[in-house]
Amino acid sequence: MAQVDILLGLQWGDEGKGKIVDFLAPKYDVVARFQGGPNAGHTLEFDGHKHVLHQIPSGIFHEGILNVIGNGVVLDPKVFQEEIEKLKPFNLDLKKHLVLSNKAQMIVPTHRILDQAYEQAKGDKKIGSTLRGIGPTYQDKVARRGLRIGDVDEPDFDKRYEEIKNYHLRILEHYDFEFDITKDEEIFFNAIETIRSFDILSTEYLINQAITDNKAVLAEGAQGSMLDIDFGSYPFVTSSNTISAGACNGLGVAPRWIGEVFGIFKAYCTRVGSGPFPTELQGEDGEELRKKGNEFGATTGRPRRCGWLDLPALKYSCMLNGVTKLFMMKADVLADLDEVKVCYGYEMEGKTTDELPLYLEGTDWELMFKAFKGWGATKANSFDALPSLLLEYIAYIEEQVKAPIEIVSLGPNRVETVLKEAFTA
Ligand code: GDP
Ligand code: IMO
Ligand code: MG
Repeated sequence: MAQVDILLGLQWGDEGKGKIVDFLAPKYDVVARFQGGPNAGHTLEFDGHKHVLHQIPSGIFHEGILNVIGNGVVLDPKVFQEEIEKLKPFNLDLKKHLVLSNKAQMIVPTHRILDQAYEQAKGDKKIGSTLRGIGPTYQDKVARRGLRIGDVDEPDFDKRYEEIKNYHLRILEHYDFEFDITKDEEIFFNAIETIRSFDILSTEYLINQAITDNKAVLAEGAQGSMLDIDFGSYPFVTSSNTISAGACNGLGVAPRWIGEVFGIFKAYCTRVGSGPFPTELQGEDGEELRKKGNEFGATTGRPRRCGWLDLPALKYSCMLNGVTKLFMMKADVLADLDEVKVCYGYEMEGKTTDELPLYLEGTDWELMFKAFKGWGATKANSFDALPSLLLEYIAYIEEQVKAPIEIVSLGPNRVETVLKEAFTA
């Protein structure tokens, strides 16, 4: 029996998951997304091209890999069609290499409108949603009125669509929000035809068969653990379980088949949207990191907030996910800073702790930092060739978090990736 490895983000998203899934994909037979939807933006760079994937798994550029959009995902037919169009020049034979779960929830045009109306009504308490309809779609799933991708083959699909749309329109009457979905509906029905042209399956059978056949499966997370609906900085979170447990119900895989849990983190922290961010750097310091790291959202283009690495948050994520191996991203971004800081604890009521309080904002605490020097060099062909100051930084994190850092990423390109000699997926 083979196992399902999981790769997921340990911070507030955008850790570099797309790059590493693409990098590791040749070791796998199946790559599967298990939660989230078009709020995700996963960037891949190789052979002079830069691709941003929102819904399609990041294994799509490799021959012989089956990419699965799992049941835990919320899928927007419009965004899906746009992605398919964008990939056309690359002759990937998508129909052969990409399948959709019949149980994935469908984002309809009014879900996007509801997302906007809810956000607008929140005034200064906005979540900073990507406005892709994620929250309202998961709401409908839990309320047991959602449309599923498999419904496109039901004879009364149009009627079911009208029912949910009308339900949304009745809610929208209570909001002071103007909209017109005529064009969106036309695009939606066009995109439904594209969806119908793909294999729509009970992908839980497919994945479990792959496990039985000794094939290797990689589950690709979206967002990050600090945006998890249960454990993230609620209510400033997304609407799904982004942690490793989400891969089990988002794909229909039993916990006993989970193998490695690869946790990805940036050598610093970023967050896009509102919500607490303890180590955030304000003003010029934050601006400097944003520039060096080119920290602008892959989905919305919004500037990302930047700050130092938060070890209590990282430890929390490692605990929740059962991380077996850590991958550190964007180490190049900090290389020429005079000082690199890491938060290792919080001081509250005269005591030092690394336990996260219920609310990260409004807590009377002081953050404790340890300072390092920037490591200068940004190029290396092997782990041993990394600058000694960076190795010091890595050793400190490993010692604090109690998990090994097995990959260090030094640039956005596939080839700018350094592995520990012992690393095996
Ligand atoms: P994801 O959502 O986790 O897949 O991450 P995003 O693609 O949203 O954001 C990561 C950004 O950092 C993208 O622009 C990547 O091209 C870029 N990136 C990934 N790894 C590195 C790295 O090691 N160094 C630098 N400088 N950029 C990186
Ligand atoms: P990837 O997969 C970073 C954030 C939004 C907002 C909150 C809720 O690229 O790492 P939602 O649209 O889900 O209702 O937004 O979550 N968010 C992300 N931030 N990366 C992402 O995905 C994100 N997906 C959602 O900015 O604060
Ligand atoms: Mg992203």
